[in-house]
Amino acid sequence: MSSFFTDDTSADAPAGDGAGGDASVPVTEAPAPPERAATGLPSINLVVIDPDDIARNRLLARLHSDVSSFPQIEDLVPYLNGEPVVIVLGPSCAVNGSLDGIERVLHAHRELGAILVAEELTTNLLQQALRSGVKDVLAAPVDDTQLTEAVSRVAAGLNSAPANPASDEPIFEGDGELAHVITVFSTKGGAGKSVIATNLGVTLAQRSDKPVCLIDADLQFGDIAVMLKLAPQHTIVDAVSSLDRLDVSLMQSLLVQHESSGLFILPAPLEPAFADQIGAPEMMQIVEVLRRFCSYVIVDTPAYFNDVVLGMIEVSDDVLLVAGMDIPNIKNVKIGLQTLRLLNTPMEKLRLILNRANSKVKLDVTEVERTLQVSADVLIPSDIVVPQSVNRGVPVVQSSPRSGVAKSLEELASLFCPAPASGRRKK
Ligand SMILES: Nc1ncnc2c1ncn2[C@@H]1O[C@H](COP(=O)(O)OP(=O)(O)O)[C@@H](O)[C@H]1O
Ligand SMILES: [Mg+2]
Repeated sequence: MSSFFTDDTSADAPAGDGAGGDASVPVTEAPAPPERAATGLPSINLVVIDPDDIARNRLLARLHSDVSSFPQIEDLVPYLNGEPVVIVLGPSCAVNGSLDGIERVLHAHRELGAILVAEELTTNLLQQALRSGVKDVLAAPVDDTQLTEAVSRVAAGLNSAPANPASDEPIFEGDGELAHVITVFSTKGGAGKSVIATNLGVTLAQRSDKPVCLIDADLQFGDIAVMLKLAPQHTIVDAVSSLDRLDVSLMQSLLVQHESSGLFILPAPLEPAFADQIGAPEMMQIVEVLRRFCSYVIVDTPAYFNDVVLGMIEVSDDVLLVAGMDIPNIKNVKIGLQTLRLLNTPMEKLRLILNRANSKVKLDVTEVERTLQVSADVLIPSDIVVPQSVNRGVPVVQSSPRSGVAKSLEELASLFCPAPASGRRKK
């Protein structure tokens, strides 16, 4: 297998732990054999690393394919020739500072994508793994499907990543003007934040000449990619793990584009477990890079205050506070407003968006405004076309552009960027 092992090295290729005779000897130049397809594993160079023979062989057996193995990641380095390699790190790689060596190799060789199989998945270990540049962490014992999916995900990321993105020219140059940052927040789940953030993003992308980016900062349960029917190759996790060299061109290579509107998305992590590892400073740095080449950066958030949300509110020019039209929503928004006041958030930044404002729920808009002591900037009606559009993965401003709900979402976008007079669309 393993075309990254060159002819001359294959002669004295290591037998993994030196015990010899095991399945660990990297061999010929032949392309990945057909049985790869049968296992569901992608045709990519695949290597297992674990200092412990038994653990290593157990993982090799799971992958039952043309996979090479080494006791240490450093043993692999002489065989690298720039081709992408997915590494499965066994449980012994996570003990006694072994991740330090792994971090050095992963940072020096961007063509490597690593998955760690850990004996016990602790927050601390996840944090260390993420900082070391590991792309995914699975808890042992892993089943074949989990492992295959993780390998495929990491392989897809490596195959799509530019060989050396940091040195590539950015696709979009900044013009010195920083993007307007808009955070969509609510203290209640299901209030309509993600629907509003996606439709606002899509509308602004259609109106703006510069790129518009939507960040899914609902790090545990973000569903923007699903709402826009996207299969992202990269997520916020990739941006955070390359934070030390994150510039405009690398950032652009990590974004996924919603083709029909042109909106760029930085998706939430695929695994909720990674959420804990991403804090406000990392997210703020990501926003700062996006600001340099975008006209608008929209941030979707979870339904509670955490340091990421507070950081996003701090860096935002506008905060859209979304409230549904029911008593629990209004109660929670009132508490949210009090919290924001206590945190000295400038009230000029806040804009109240009342969602499902036409519902026959016997709650009057003026009554709500009086309770909250804030007047609503935009009222969005309730309409069945919204859940229908969510289920189709097409934003309602595109699927039902003539509906009242689409019109009010366009009106919301007009608070930031006027609609073109002729109804002209950029894309
Ligand atoms: N104006 C609306 N009319 C009808 N349904 C809506 C409306 N806004 C949101 N919804 C429904 O509520 C669900 C939750 O909305 P979502 O944006 O995911 O909430 P959040 O992100 O605040 O948790 C969506 O799947 C959508 O079907
Ligand atoms: Mg949401």
